[in-house]
Amino acid sequence: MFAFNFNKIIMPIFHGKAALIEFLNSVKTSNSTIGFVPTMGALHQGHLSLMQQSLAENNNTVVSIFVNPTQFNNPEDLKKYPRTLEKDTQKIFSLDTNIIIYAPSVDDIYEGKVASEDFDFDGLENQMEGKFRPGHFNGVGTIVKRLFEIVSPTNAYFGKKDFQQLQIVKKMVRKNHLDVNIIGCEIFRESNGLAMSSRNERLSVPEREQASIIYQTLVEAKEKFKTHSCNEVKDWVTEVFNSNTIFDLEYFEIADEETLTTCTEQSKDKNYRAFIAVFVNNIRLIDTISLK
Ligand code: PAF
Repeated sequence: MFAFNFNKIIMPIFHGKAALIEFLNSVKTSNSTIGFVPTMGALHQGHLSLMQQSLAENNNTVVSIFVNPTQFNNPEDLKKYPRTLEKDTQKIFSLDTNIIIYAPSVDDIYEGKVASEDFDFDGLENQMEGKFRPGHFNGVGTIVKRLFEIVSPTNAYFGKKDFQQLQIVKKMVRKNHLDVNIIGCEIFRESNGLAMSSRNERLSVPEREQASIIYQTLVEAKEKFKTHSCNEVKDWVTEVFNSNTIFDLEYFEIADEETLTTCTEQSKDKNYRAFIAVFVNNIRLIDTISLK
């Protein structure tokens, strides 16, 4: 265990799973709960809101900070991913000094074999992000399963910005009979509507301002969905981005929230959601909105 000394208050940061497990066993009682917030660091208000929810709902809260190599299909993206452990621990500390931080090394997680497990997520993995980021969800499934095995949380908190990831984690938990509740939390947005993301840090000031187009387009798409077909809405969004010189649309999809299959014809008994991914200056941003 490494003790981080910040203004004379000591908070524990664990870099090794053995010490973390021993510590959690020592604080756990027969009916106490552990809330868990897995992150890749570069923390923002969205992450902190997940931690707040966990603090409010559990006896202990564990936050992991680990940039997971197996979920990056683009080596450049992995290299550039911000690693800001000291800043992150300060943010967590400002929120609550009782949060238990697990910031493992790649070796502590992968024990010399950095590879993903092969999962079957019943097709959820083949839609949207899965089409554009091959292997990404096997990497996510692998790390989340390992972290669950280490932390043994009662409740685990995930943001709805990565809605496909949320559904995939739920599926992985059900298929592997893991004893953990998966809680999806609302998206935290900047004042211009841009969904909070660690990647926003890489945007220039004008790009960050102009990125409001993503959420604005989703809100308008939601309005149009009341009176237009799925394909008409999709064509409209494509047109919006065709006439924008800064943002390149990678995909816009309207899909069933449960199966994530693309909507071809609206059905009354399904809940639909719009999903979008855009590039600006090689930075990839995603967002989503419920169409209910
Ligand atoms: O959403 C993320 O930050 C990551 O995909 C997660 C869940 C922490 C797994 O590495």
